[in-house]
Amino acid sequence: MKILLIGASGTIGKAVANRLGEGHELIRAGFSDGDVKVDLGSIESIKSMFTEVGHLDAVISTAGVANFGAFDQLPDDEYQLALSNKLMGQVNLIRLGRGYMNQGGSITLTSGVLSREPMQGSVAVSMVNGALESFVKAAAIELNNFRLNVVSPVFVKETMAMMGMDTSSGLSADDTAKAYVSAVMGTAHGMTLDAPDYV
Ligand SMILES: NC(=O)c1ccc[n+]([C@@H]2O[C@H](COP(=O)([O-])OP(=O)(O)OC[C@H]3O[C@@H](n4cnc5c(N)ncnc54)[C@H](OP(=O)(O)O)[C@@H]3O)[C@@H](O)[C@H]2O)c1
Repeated sequence: MKILLIGASGTIGKAVANRLGEGHELIRAGFSDGDVKVDLGSIESIKSMFTEVGHLDAVISTAGVANFGAFDQLPDDEYQLALSNKLMGQVNLIRLGRGYMNQGGSITLTSGVLSREPMQGSVAVSMVNGALESFVKAAAIELNNFRLNVVSPVFVKETMAMMGMDTSSGLSADDTAKAYVSAVMGTAHGMTLDAPDYV
C-alpha cells in the first residue's frame, strides 16, 4: 500500500509509522520535517502535498493543533486555531485528498477522548474532537470510493510522562497505533475507533 502519514514525527505518528512502515510505501509528512512538508492550516499547502505525492491507498492524519485553556481565559485566536488547524485542516484532507484516493482506499483522522470525556480546560479541544467525529459519520454517507474513519486516542503514556503526569491511566503510543492499523487494514467506514478497543 502507498500510505501518506501526516504527523509522522509526533508521539502517535512515530508509533503508527513503526507499525505500518514495513511492507508498505510510507510517505512521512510533517510541519517542519518529513518526506513532504505540509501545514494543515493552509489549503494551498495541503493541495501542493497531494500534488507532490500523487495517488494513494491510505491517508492517515496523526496531526492537528488545538490547545488547552480555561473557558474564562481562552482567547479568540485559540478557538480559531483549533477550528482552522485540527478541525478544518483534517476536514480539508478529505475535501482536497479525495481525488487522489485509489478505489477501496481509506482516510483516517484523529480526534480524542475529550469529545466525550471532557476535563477542565478542554473546551476548544473537546469542541473540535466532537466535530471531527460527527463530520466523519456524516461524510461517510456520501463518500463511497474510499473508507473514512477517525481514531479517538485516550491520553498517551509518553505524552503524560512528558507533562509530568501519572501515566497509569494512559495507553502507550504503540498500543494507540493499533487502532490506526485497524482503520487502514479493516472494513470500518464512518466510524470513531476508540483506541483502547483495539489493544
Ligand atoms: N498524545 C496524546 O495524549 C493524545 C491524546 C488524544 C488525542 N491526541 C491527538 O492526536 C494527535 C497527535 O498527537 P501527538 O501527541 O502525537 O502530537 P505531537 O507529538 O505533538 O506531534 C504532532 C505532529 O503533527 C505535526 N504538526 C504540527 N503542526 C502541524 C501543522 N500545522 N500541519 C501539519 N502537521 C503538523 C508535527 O510535525 P512537526 O514535528 O514537523 O512539527 C508532528 O508530526 C493530535 O491531534 C492530538 O490532539 C493526542
